[in-house]
Amino acid sequence: MSIAQITDTPAKLRCISCGASPDSAAQDFRCRACGDLLEFVFPGWASDSPHPAALKSLWLNRRISSEALDQSGVWRFRELLPHIPAEHAITLREGNTPLYHLPRCARTSGVENLRAKHQGMNPTASFKDTGMTFAASSAHQGKFRWVACASTGNTSASMAAYAARGNMHSLVLIPDGKISWGKLSQSLDYGALTCQLRSDFDGCVRILNELVRQKPVYLLNSVNPYRIEGQKTAAVELMEQLAWEPPDHIIVPGGNLGNSSAIGKALLEMLELKLISRLPKLSIIQAQGANPFYRCVREFGGKKLEPMTADTLATAIRIGNPASWKKALRVLQVTGGEVEQVSEVEIAAAKAEIGADGIGCEPASAVTLAGLKKLRSSGFIKSGESVVLILTGHLLKDPDFTINFHRGDLFAGTLAEAEATQAKSLQRAPIALDANLKAVIAALDAAERNS
Ligand code: F0G
Repeated sequence: MSIAQITDTPAKLRCISCGASPDSAAQDFRCRACGDLLEFVFPGWASDSPHPAALKSLWLNRRISSEALDQSGVWRFRELLPHIPAEHAITLREGNTPLYHLPRCARTSGVENLRAKHQGMNPTASFKDTGMTFAASSAHQGKFRWVACASTGNTSASMAAYAARGNMHSLVLIPDGKISWGKLSQSLDYGALTCQLRSDFDGCVRILNELVRQKPVYLLNSVNPYRIEGQKTAAVELMEQLAWEPPDHIIVPGGNLGNSSAIGKALLEMLELKLISRLPKLSIIQAQGANPFYRCVREFGGKKLEPMTADTLATAIRIGNPASWKKALRVLQVTGGEVEQVSEVEIAAAKAEIGADGIGCEPASAVTLAGLKKLRSSGFIKSGESVVLILTGHLLKDPDFTINFHRGDLFAGTLAEAEATQAKSLQRAPIALDANLKAVIAALDAAERNS
């Protein structure tokens, strides 16, 4: 099949549980027959799949194109996505994120080959942009005036930016007081109608689901399958960066579980299309205080997910009832990945270690390194295996967490205070000095002696 033909390959919606295949989605993106989630499938690929080498060279050539869509790290891979006409595409040139070696983190976690794909290097500084460019474009195609999401802060920042670029209004529902200032400030500046509900993320989701059934508002949470399609491209871009040679392991944070579902879907599709020849194991890490998926797998053998009241300082993943758990479970099972949970102190220490490699990330992203250490200790990951961490958000998203950690205040007066002493050597509190040269030289000499 030629490239021109595959661009037109129709994508179909399909329910992940009952297999119903609706022509269009309901406002809440739930299956009208059974209420479960929908996903896009590409039936044409089974009978007449595109030539992998032709696709790879097409995508590579687009990197030197001056067309807006080719410059996007999402739309560059549009042959793998449902068709949205170019006039509806809203792009901020998302994707194109770097893959870094983490030499210090590799040493402390006991693996030789450790890299991080930094999705925090997207236009609004989180991985959400890759899904948002595509789903916001589908809202534009559907001529919606309003788009909306419930969020722990990153989805809302991203949605607000893309809505503004596409001349749409955006409504943000966020938990009152439990999101970082960096993220909140973004949605304000991008012009969203921002409502802080006296509830948690799961409460915001409930209200939003009711709202979209009553008002012509386009839902942009990751139950929207266009979000998953856009987010898929991060894995495609990763494989291209690795010359289509998959790593042994990919590790992602788990919150609402859209990202792990998207990356897993991409891996399976790339295998089907012979773009890669084997699957990496995809492992999902949760914070101990927000671990419904960990418990679903470890305690209930994947049979059910018991919602919980979530609590973690990694506010991005403070989620007790993840929508995409069935999709994520399938990915875990098919790729042979693991699920882990990590403590608050382990998250904070891992974040400082990623920072000390000159990279940095927000707390939710750091669960990946903390999880890697546990998976190394349990023997699931071997020292000679290659590992890629997906860092989901930028360091500057949540500076309060970072400053409190380095000042030694993050766990003061909490149950984790004793455990936190283990992370003391990673703390670099600012030093207040008199404004004279002697004091600065003394600080420099002291630092040199301790280094
Ligand atoms: N990392 C960051 C920085 C996030 O913002 C999120 C989710 C996750 C990881 C988890 O990804 O939900 O796909 O499993 N943030 C959402 C939000 C919920 O509203 O910004 P997931």
